Amino acid sequence: MLDKVKELLGEVSAFQSASKEEVEAFRIKYLGSKGLLKNLFAEFKNVDAELRKDFGQALNNLKKAAEQKVASLNEALENAQEETGVYGDLTRPAEPIQLGSRHPISLVKNQIIDVFNRIGFTVSEGPEVEDDWHNFTALNLPEYHPARDMQDTFFIEKSQDVAKDTLLRTHTSSVQVRYMENNKPPIRTISPGRVFRNEDISARSHCIFHQVEGLYIDTDVSFADLKQTLLYFTKEMFGKSKIRLRPSYFPFTEPSAEVDIYWGLETETDYRITKGTGWLEIMGCGMVDPNVLENCNIDSSTYSGYAFGMGIERIAMLLYQIPDIRMFYENDVRFLEQFKSVL
Ligand code: PHE
Repeated sequence: MLDKVKELLGEVSAFQSASKEEVEAFRIKYLGSKGLLKNLFAEFKNVDAELRKDFGQALNNLKKAAEQKVASLNEALENAQEETGVYGDLTRPAEPIQLGSRHPISLVKNQIIDVFNRIGFTVSEGPEVEDDWHNFTALNLPEYHPARDMQDTFFIEKSQDVAKDTLLRTHTSSVQVRYMENNKPPIRTISPGRVFRNEDISARSHCIFHQVEGLYIDTDVSFADLKQTLLYFTKEMFGKSKIRLRPSYFPFTEPSAEVDIYWGLETETDYRITKGTGWLEIMGCGMVDPNVLENCNIDSSTYSGYAFGMGIERIAMLLYQIPDIRMFYENDVRFLEQFKSVL
């Protein structure tokens, strides 16, 4: 009898299982109401008196061992279920974190802002849906002015009275008008933002693009100050300090100029992007027309200033040799991923 109990104890301690059903079967076999232990306890009365003590102890040990086995196997099963359940498999190696990248337009915009911040320009922003005054009239572009055709406009609302028109801003010069209306000189501000023009979409132009425009107003500001600022900018931004100013026309500046930088003709790409001249146009600029200052309640006999404006896409295309402006808006990850290493 005692040998039989000892044999069962060996079986119990050796038992292993990873399934709930098997553990339950094991429990019923040993501890169930018709289980082995029940039967063995029933035998107790038939055991000789002098052997009862040992037999009783052995039985109790077997019962305890069986109960502990069931409890520990069930606990292990529950833990295993938790690991694959709510939290997933906690022992699995971590997945590599997918790093995103900034959009090249943001990268270049931040770079431009940074260059101008260093010489005291602050950033100003304004609405994308503008009224006629801030986008055109205040900038010396009254109704019927032919220069309005320079910027094909998307109108939100067009009425008989232009003062009531609303439109998508065609440049961020509108932000500068707002800034002048609300701040007294000296003024040093740059206005980055999205602008809209009703133009055909091609590799070189888009109906939505981004600009950074700058404005500097103080006493005794001259064209020489503008030129020096442009030199500083091109050197910081492109590492090139040969520029030329070509006379141009903008209604809000007088005199006005187009800024070209000397890009060089060292590679085939240089030939292509500069059309074989080595020179590249990067922005428009000029001395703020006194009419514009007066429109914004700034005394033009005391103050003068300069302004400039550039397209961010154009500069990003130059810096990163991007052949098609449409790539900026398609958001193809294969394109965007290439800017991961740039901060
Ligand atoms: N607003 C002009 C444009 O969008 C750029 C510009 C700004 C030119 C300031 C001169 C001075 O084309």
